[in-house]
Amino acid sequence: MTKFLVDKIENFSEGQMKNVTLGGKEILVAKIEGHFYAISNICSHAGAELHEGTLEANELTCPWHGAKWDVKTGDLIWFPQKLNNQDIYTVLVEDQNVYIEI
Ligand code: FES
Repeated sequence: MTKFLVDKIENFSEGQMKNVTLGGKEILVAKIEGHFYAISNICSHAGAELHEGTLEANELTCPWHGAKWDVKTGDLIWFPQKLNNQDIYTVLVEDQNVYIEI
């Protein structure tokens, strides 16, 4: 496991999504109710960048075909066909900074 710095806590607003490329992976980091979550930013359906979608509470909606994902668990919430769940990553908050372990 390697720990990567994402950003300072103060640079996230509530409900905000940021896309970052760390350790060769494209990752979406979201702040929900003061907690941080990290999920693969590339939709497992056809490759859309999920940070261009919408986030309501923990429900992340893909901008291309509307798949809904749980940003906390990576689980598929809704789509007409079965899709692989999204990878999620461990988020660490230390010294006012947000890190991801990959
Ligand atoms: S690319 Fe995300 S639902 Fe199709």
